[in-house]
Amino acid sequence: MQLSGNTILITGGSSGIGLEMTKQFSAFNNTVIICGRNKETLLQAQWEVPGIHIYTCDLAIESDRLKLATWIADNHPQLNVLINNAAIVHRENFTKDPFGYEKALKEIETNLTAPIHLIHLLLPLLRKQSSAAILNITTGLVYTPRTLYPIYNATKAALHSFTQVLREQIKPVPIEIIEVLFPVVNTPWHKGAAPRIAIQPQEAVAKMLKGIENNKAEIRVGAVQLLYFLQRLAPRFAFKKINQLP
Ligand SMILES: NC(=O)c1ccc[n+]([C@@H]2O[C@H](COP(=O)([O-])OP(=O)(O)OC[C@H]3O[C@@H](n4cnc5c(N)ncnc54)[C@H](OP(=O)(O)O)[C@@H]3O)[C@@H](O)[C@H]2O)c1
Repeated sequence: MQLSGNTILITGGSSGIGLEMTKQFSAFNNTVIICGRNKETLLQAQWEVPGIHIYTCDLAIESDRLKLATWIADNHPQLNVLINNAAIVHRENFTKDPFGYEKALKEIETNLTAPIHLIHLLLPLLRKQSSAAILNITTGLVYTPRTLYPIYNATKAALHSFTQVLREQIKPVPIEIIEVLFPVVNTPWHKGAAPRIAIQPQEAVAKMLKGIENNKAEIRVGAVQLLYFLQRLAPRFAFKKINQLP
């Protein structure tokens, strides 16, 4: 994937890592479209990064995903990059939460069903472009789950698995399938209480772009590389370490 000259849809591009991607990809001369549920946040992002296009939708709702795909085909038929970044997390003890099941459905719909559906909807458009890429955003927790996030870990591990298969099945169509696995990043996601080891979004996205430049299909950002090896060498130790983080 080239770093410039693309038309990119970044889901959840109005906050945190997505917003930083919006800034860095815009600076590299790309047309950037972002979507999210909150119109105010989208307008704020557009004010911060003039020239981007915004679209309000709730990706957890199937009809919103269908409308988004139609809007893209009508307004940005040159779309050649899809970044599935939007996600939510519930911090809970699933066994004690009376709403655990409802929350799980929401997380699965947002973090897993939506990326799969968007890929399905936008593949015909992506196939028409001379070069195209799909980037799925996951986490080091695909290797070792954090007990704070019972469903989130599972949705991202499933997206990791799906991405590996998609990369094989899509051949010989030249659409690049890239997964970016982030470590803890200091974003609004952590509600002001990110663990001390969190890196800044600027660093996280700069490393992601470096990985793209180096043609990596699985970009393990920062500490994720260490966790990848640790989980293979000493899985129980890795599990303990991940769950000792504050
Ligand atoms: N922060 C970390 O430590 C960390 C670590 C590893 C991986 N990641 C991954 O990085 C990605 C971005 O995380 P972040 O920290 O930047 O999170 P964030 O600051 O909370 O941003 C999440 C974005 O997703 C959008 N979003 C959430 N639900 C949506 C829905 N149903 N429909 C449309 N948009 C929706 C939000 O906008 P609205 O609220 O307006 O909808 C927001 O723009 C996620 O995939 C996350 O799993 C984060």
